[in-house]
Amino acid sequence: MDTITDPTRHRILTGDRPTGRLHLGHYFGTLQNRVRLQDIGVELYVVIADYQVLTDRDVADDLTGHVEELVLDYLAAGVDPARATIFTHSAVPALNQLLLPFLSLVSVAELSRNPTVKDEIAHSRQSAVSGLMFTYPVHQAADILFCKADLVPVGQDQLPHLELTRTIARRFNDRYGAGVFPEPEALLSKAPLLLGTDGTKMSKSRGNAITLAAGADETARLIKRAKTDTDRHIGYDPVGRPEVSSLLLLAALCLDRTPSQVAHSIGAAGSAALKKVVTEAVNEYLAPIRARRAEYARDRAYLRTVLREGNERARAVADTTLAEVRAAMNSL
Ligand code: TRP
Repeated sequence: MDTITDPTRHRILTGDRPTGRLHLGHYFGTLQNRVRLQDIGVELYVVIADYQVLTDRDVADDLTGHVEELVLDYLAAGVDPARATIFTHSAVPALNQLLLPFLSLVSVAELSRNPTVKDEIAHSRQSAVSGLMFTYPVHQAADILFCKADLVPVGQDQLPHLELTRTIARRFNDRYGAGVFPEPEALLSKAPLLLGTDGTKMSKSRGNAITLAAGADETARLIKRAKTDTDRHIGYDPVGRPEVSSLLLLAALCLDRTPSQVAHSIGAAGSAALKKVVTEAVNEYLAPIRARRAEYARDRAYLRTVLREGNERARAVADTTLAEVRAAMNSL
C-alpha cells in the first residue's frame, strides 16, 4: 500500500457479503484502508456481493435490509459515493454474463481444491453443497475483472480467489487476445487479526463482535464480558495471552499507539482496568462514525439513491467490458 506512488493509476475493487452489520474486525481489517486509499485518490469500487449470500444457505433473509445496513456502514466509515462506486452484483447483468466465459477457463479440479471453499463447506449450514459454492470464486473474478481493477484489498482467506482471478485473466488474454484484463494484485491488510470478545475469531454469526452500529452501552457490556486471564500484570503477548493481547490491540488501533504502550499504561492494574481503557478508546473512536451512521439511517431515500447511482455506473463499465470480451471471443 505504501508502494502506491501514483494513486490515480490504480483502480481498487473489494466488497462484502450482505449478511449483517460490519464490525471492528472489518473496520480495522479493510474498511479503514479502503477509505484511506479513496482519500489519496485511488478509484474505488465496492461490491455488495448479494449472490454470494446463497453459497452456504438456501435463502438470503432480509436481503434489502442487509444491503442497506452495509451501505450505512460504508458511508459511516467514510466511503464517499461521489468518488466511489457502491453496487450490488445482482444489479449488473453484464458482470454476471462474464461468469460463463470465465467458467470455461477453469477446471472442476481447480474449483474443488480451493481451500477457502473447502473451509466454507465444512462450516456450511446446508446439508447439500450447491453448485454456487464451487463456482462463486469464478463469479468473484467477474466482480474484480469487470471493472479491470488492479488492486484488491482482502484478508488472507480471499487469496485463493485472487489467485484464481489472476489465472482467469491470464488464460483469457492467452486464449482470446492479450491485454483485455489486468492481473490484479492483493493488498493484504497489515493489521493483525482482532479476536471476538470470547477469544475466537470475530464474526457476525458468533455474537462476539462489536459492530460499528452498536451503541456505547452495548459496547461497554460486550467488552465487560470479554474473556481475559487472571494475571493482573497486563502485557502484550499474542501467542501466550491471545485474549488480553487482542484487547490491547483494539485499544491501540483506536488510540493510534502500540499495544505495548497501552499495556505499559495499565501495568499491574488488571483486567478490569484494561477493559475500562478499551471501552473508552473504542467508544471515543467510534463516536463520530456512529453519529454519521445514525444520521444516514434516517434518510433511507438517500441510501437508495446511492445504490441506484452506483449500480448505474457499474452497469456502464460492465457493458463496455462485456462488449470487449464478446468482440475478443467473436461475439459469443
Ligand atoms: N468473498 C468476499 C467475502 O466473503 C466478498 C467479495 C465478493 C469480494 N466479491 C469480492 C471481495 C471481490 C473482494 C473482491 O468477504
